[in-house]
Amino acid sequence: MLRYIQNIICKRKPPLDGTHPNRQPDPVFYRRKHLLAIEGLTPPEIGHLLELADSYVLLNRSGKTQRDLLRGRTLINLFFEDSTRTRTSFELAGKRLGADVINMSVSTSSVNKGETLLDTAATLNAMQCDLLVVRHDQSGAPHLLARKVDAAVINAGDGTHEHPTQALLDALTIKRRKGRIEGLTVAICGDVLHSRVARSNIHLLTTMGSQVRVVGPPTLMPSGINDLGVRVFHDMKEGLKGADIVMMLRLQKERMTRSLVPSAREYFRFWGLDAEKLAHARDDALVMHPGPMNRGVEIDSAVADDPVRSVIKEQVEMGVAVRMAVLDTLSRGTGRNDV
Ligand code: CP
Repeated sequence: MLRYIQNIICKRKPPLDGTHPNRQPDPVFYRRKHLLAIEGLTPPEIGHLLELADSYVLLNRSGKTQRDLLRGRTLINLFFEDSTRTRTSFELAGKRLGADVINMSVSTSSVNKGETLLDTAATLNAMQCDLLVVRHDQSGAPHLLARKVDAAVINAGDGTHEHPTQALLDALTIKRRKGRIEGLTVAICGDVLHSRVARSNIHLLTTMGSQVRVVGPPTLMPSGINDLGVRVFHDMKEGLKGADIVMMLRLQKERMTRSLVPSAREYFRFWGLDAEKLAHARDDALVMHPGPMNRGVEIDSAVADDPVRSVIKEQVEMGVAVRMAVLDTLSRGTGRNDV
């Protein structure tokens, strides 16, 4: 009898119905239980998330909430790596939609006493968590968790693999500024080798019809990059010529096990974005950076803070709307298939 009552109380809440104006049922995406990667998403799925996120921009700006959407649901932010933007925006997004949000600080958790990732996950699972947002320095960690927990798992960046919500917020920023994604030329520049942001953006932008270039030194290009449908450039002037979007990447020294670049000063000279290099892109080209930025290493401050060309702050704003859309959508999933 006790077990029966426990089952009723603790059972995952059923998908919410589609009565909210922002939440008309869309069977295309709601079959997904998790968001682990952009690779594998279809254009309608990406389009659905971008449209829903766009509808949340105004709500987010107004500071209003839709607390009915995720009321009674629990979101746990489980971050094994540092984060400012992603963790905070998932927290804001969850709260705006009425979820109970818990930020787990790994530095003060039992992980430091030797608990394994799977034991941590099992513990959180037992607490009836509905949405688990995971950042980990090992590629594939969120995928492993997704196989072990009942919660919907959202990849908030895994090693050098993917950072799907970053690519979605980048796409929303581009779409709102340029009115389209299809047909644009996007130059992704710098440390492509270590960048999960680059990988997710390549999958999203090529899926949605952009021409994607990757620009950087040969030492910072992953093997097999040509198989991803991009053009590779080892010269900034050539790579930026005629680009609509210049997306800079952080030089990820913490992931380098050997010296792959000369000094920061030399790197900036050849690969850092300044006004002179930007002049090779289109006059109306937008400058993007996922943050955190290394000013004076991959980007000059004057370009990063240019009020006309730089959309870096807008990217951060779009992050909240995109994460609201992802939480909203996954909370309605039937859990039949994984991404
Ligand atoms: N872009 C990004 O993922 O930033 P954080 O590391 O601050 O979350």
